[in-house]
Amino acid sequence: MQSDQLTHKTIRVGLLGAGTVGSQTARLIVEQRDELAARTGAVVELVGVACLRPEEVDAPWIARDLLTTDTAALCAREDVDIVIELIGGLEPAHTFVKTALEHGKSVVTANKALLAKFGPELYKCAESHGVDLYFEAAVAGAIPILRPLRESLIGDEITQIFGIVNGTTNYILDEMTVRGLDFDTALRAAQEKGYAEADPTGDVEGFDAANKAAILATLAFQMPVSIDDVSVEGITAITAADIAAASAEKRVIKLLAAVERHDENGVSVSVYPALVGAEHPLASVHGSFNAVFVKAQAADDLMFYGRGAGGAPTASAVVGDVVSAARNLVRGCAGFGVPMYNKYVPASDEQARADFVVRCNMEDTSLALCEEVMDVFASHGVQVERLASSCEAQYEGDGDCPACGIGGQGDMRMLAKACSEADLHEVIADLQKLDVVCGKPLVLRVIK
Ligand code: HSE
Repeated sequence: MQSDQLTHKTIRVGLLGAGTVGSQTARLIVEQRDELAARTGAVVELVGVACLRPEEVDAPWIARDLLTTDTAALCAREDVDIVIELIGGLEPAHTFVKTALEHGKSVVTANKALLAKFGPELYKCAESHGVDLYFEAAVAGAIPILRPLRESLIGDEITQIFGIVNGTTNYILDEMTVRGLDFDTALRAAQEKGYAEADPTGDVEGFDAANKAAILATLAFQMPVSIDDVSVEGITAITAADIAAASAEKRVIKLLAAVERHDENGVSVSVYPALVGAEHPLASVHGSFNAVFVKAQAADDLMFYGRGAGGAPTASAVVGDVVSAARNLVRGCAGFGVPMYNKYVPASDEQARADFVVRCNMEDTSLALCEEVMDVFASHGVQVERLASSCEAQYEGDGDCPACGIGGQGDMRMLAKACSEADLHEVIADLQKLDVVCGKPLVLRVIK
């Protein structure tokens, strides 16, 4: 089948970035030319690929004469209809995307940091220029989750989203759970497999997931939510003992991007390590896979699962967006924008109460000192229940650990019930003032 026989129209695409995702995006556009033409109603033609070092591009399907280092010019080129931004980061990506939109190009991007910071400005810019800004690949890679939020579920009321949206951290936690590895060994394995970035801070400290949480919240609740609105806790403090304790209670620890609308419309947008019961669908998301669990008033529970990163999976989502934008151009219209008619109102302390497991590493877990720790919770009006203590054999004190019958250095785990985050922060700050408490206690939210 010759696509040119189907249509005479051509949609011209400029690609910014020829790295892992960029080169795979180019491959799909070139190799699927006829199918894309049949599905789009126009030939989708790559007319330029901007990158910093053309000589290093390792993608034989990209004709050499398409390569350019003049990214700004490609964004503004008269004959370009769609710009695909895959260079990542805030600047110069922000300037390039804005330039393209202002020149009347539709834009497809996978840039989560860009959208978490400048999304509302760019959505409005696209709307005012009558073009599309699509970004399915920015959250959970290949998984179609943003289009369902933007379109399929737009007639419903979303109340909650829990997403495993960072493959590196899910791989690390899963290796710790399934193979009993400690954090550092699991992180090294993630780096060797190419999941973690060379500097994995953004992954393990939760910032990558926080960008995605801001985007999810904006789409789910039709309000501008930025990365600055997201509270973030990473997974670096989680030990093999924490994982084992969770397993003993038939739970797993997952890093979640959590987006919730509470009563009276207060919204919380967070990233935190959470205890997820073995029966929850998110508990069986293994390795570097991603999954997004959505609760909507009418639809009830939905779960989206798949590859959240990698060249070809991410390119799949990018090219899907290119086809949508191209189809709209063929029809002379723009698709669904991003409505933001609601104001972001952070949930109050009262609205956002939850159960938390707190793990304190203590120099001595003898009874009197355990009670001293528990008293800190009581002094802030937080109801607390002791779960267990894991003591090491070097105990030399007098008292006995109430849970295991011996004292000595070890962990004490407690359940703080229906606790507000503000109270919990004060409890944690006070616990760190106690001589017997070593380091910062770990907090794990309990997912009901
Ligand atoms: N570093 C990210 C992850 C890549 O591990 O999921 C995809 O955003």
